[in-house]
Amino acid sequence: MEVILAKSAGFCPGVQRAVNMVYEQTEIPERGPVYTYGPIIHNDEVVRDLESRGVRVIHSVDELAGLPKGTVIIRSHGVSREVYEKIESGGFDIVDATCPFVKRIHNIVEEQGKEGRDIIIIGNPDHPEVQGIRGWCRTPSVVIENVDEAVRFSRINAEKLCIISQTTFNYNKFKELVEIISKKGYDINCVNSICNATAVRQQEARDIASKVDAMIVIGDKSSSNTQKLYEISQKECGNTYYIQTLVDLDLTAFESIRNVGITAGASTPNHIIEEVHTNVRIKF
Ligand code: F3S
Repeated sequence: MEVILAKSAGFCPGVQRAVNMVYEQTEIPERGPVYTYGPIIHNDEVVRDLESRGVRVIHSVDELAGLPKGTVIIRSHGVSREVYEKIESGGFDIVDATCPFVKRIHNIVEEQGKEGRDIIIIGNPDHPEVQGIRGWCRTPSVVIENVDEAVRFSRINAEKLCIISQTTFNYNKFKELVEIISKKGYDINCVNSICNATAVRQQEARDIASKVDAMIVIGDKSSSNTQKLYEISQKECGNTYYIQTLVDLDLTAFESIRNVGITAGASTPNHIIEEVHTNVRIKF
């Protein structure tokens, strides 16, 4: 059996950078206690390992009240301007691990607001990245996630709009929604802010899934980019398995299969990918 492992599987540069920054902070004792604002990545195993090194996850600024002063690390998804201000005014230091691609979106929405453009964010309104982006908008903003919402959209306030996307949004879906909104006759400045790492990983998953008998997608169940990889792979290959680690994989299901593809979300550690890859190869 042939096993094809996607070259783009696993940590993207932004997640790798954020995880490295947290480990670095744990090695500087004078920093005091280290907190991450939300789990640093959507991966329970990495979060547990960091906890064992004394890193505590906080979920809101209010939680900091009463905690010993130390360093708060902003994760790759980024946060609103208000969160930075509250952390600092609480007397905590900030280490900013916001992915540079997300930071670029914060800068864009801020600048576009100065030009009087209202902001449309194409993405999932509940995702922390999108909530963080909204926190940098100076003008009214709206989040559009599906065709229905795009069709129903009418201007928020101004006739001038800026459309940007959540970094992990599906490119084809983004294009479709932008086309619908563009027909409404507003003055639109559209910025495709989908991260290249995501697009490359999605395209590679599509290519591999289209030519294999079975596809394995590895990643945490709460990771939105892994869920999207699963959807894309499932479309091309009905025999697609979504697993978190090797334990979830029933290798007997692969007995009559000639070739299998493997990919993984941006928050999946390398050793988990390697373990799955090695075991699938050994088994057959
Ligand atoms: Fe950044 Fe792209 Fe990863 S936006 S966090 S490098 S998916």
